Amino acid sequence: METLIPVINRLQEVFVTVGAEIVQLPQIVVVGSQSSGKSSVLESLVGCDFLPRGSGIVTRRPLVLQLVNVPPLEERKHTEGGMALHVTATSMYNRELIFTDFGEIRREIEEETERGSGDNKGISSEPIHLKIFSPHVLNLTLVDLPGITKVPVGDQPEDIETQVQEMILSFISNPNSLILAVSPANSDLATSDALKLAREVDPDGRRTLLVISKLDLMDAGTDALEVLLGRVIPVRLGIIGVVNRSQHDINTQKSLTDAARDEQAFLQRHYPSLASRCGSRYLARTLSRLLMHHIRDTLPELKTRVTVLSAQYQARLNSYGQPVEDHSATLLQIVTKFASDYCNTIEGTARHIQTSELCGGARICY
Ligand code: GDP
Ligand code: NA
Ligand code: MG
Repeated sequence: METLIPVINRLQEVFVTVGAEIVQLPQIVVVGSQSSGKSSVLESLVGCDFLPRGSGIVTRRPLVLQLVNVPPLEERKHTEGGMALHVTATSMYNRELIFTDFGEIRREIEEETERGSGDNKGISSEPIHLKIFSPHVLNLTLVDLPGITKVPVGDQPEDIETQVQEMILSFISNPNSLILAVSPANSDLATSDALKLAREVDPDGRRTLLVISKLDLMDAGTDALEVLLGRVIPVRLGIIGVVNRSQHDINTQKSLTDAARDEQAFLQRHYPSLASRCGSRYLARTLSRLLMHHIRDTLPELKTRVTVLSAQYQARLNSYGQPVEDHSATLLQIVTKFASDYCNTIEGTARHIQTSELCGGARICY
């Protein structure tokens, strides 16, 4: 079975041919309190080790991570020394840099954070834009945000809580944002800042997915079963428990592959009945499925455009009396094939999608 990337890229080509806007995939935005694991969750989705993480306030500016699909040839043109990776970081100074390893990208994000918000825990709403060009990615935008904090430290303003909340709201109030609300398992879900903010902009929960992080850090004798089953607070799109790398894992440079394996083992041991519906890979698959739903919802509009195009060809043909090439039948076939093959078997497709196929990073990492 074909995977999501070629299918969506093909469909996007169709959109371009009929002069429609490219299929706009929702941007995925992570929200939550400070150190809840937002950057870690995004990183395991992308499958690359390049976001600054750690205790305290590490993410201090929005990071808009744009994944750009390029054909294999173009990718080669972009890269030097055989690296299958080209990343440009466009800062407020509009510099464009090419990176060759993920550690470098992380350092650049850190430096750029300091340039924009000082070196003493200050924050800035000026986003850092980072683009990753690869044939293995979907044209997808991921946004990493500073976490919600209550008490100002360092150079933070007195109203840090309000400022961060406003920054977050400016991203998640966009109806095209899919909200990943991250809440740690070792704190009470009823007090979750992530869910509280998500509900402000998405009261019906149509675009909020709840991620319960730090399942491994719960007090002995407690577990998150009730939370994960949605018995504490139901969440329409789902509640997915994950185990990210701990600070010790980061310090000892544990790989994402090893982390994913250990996460699965942990889930099997502690949540055997839920293991197949938890974990980073399942989260990636769920997101893929939500993206497929989104695309399916845009298909009727696409069909209309193709029909209009066909009528236009016909009109031109009649007025000039010259043969005009009519692509619309082929386009309609592609759209219809997409609808029947993929949208009717979304579940099946989603099951075949690997983490690396959502964002593709994993393949460039190995
Ligand atoms: P953010 O501030 O929400 O972006 O959180 P980070 O991703 O920077 O993570 C904060 C700290 O928590 C880091 O030291 C991570 O290693 C750690 N952490 C995040 N998720 C987990 C988890 O699921 N389990 C454990 N043990 N540590 C985690
Ligand atoms: Na943090
Ligand atoms: Mg962070």
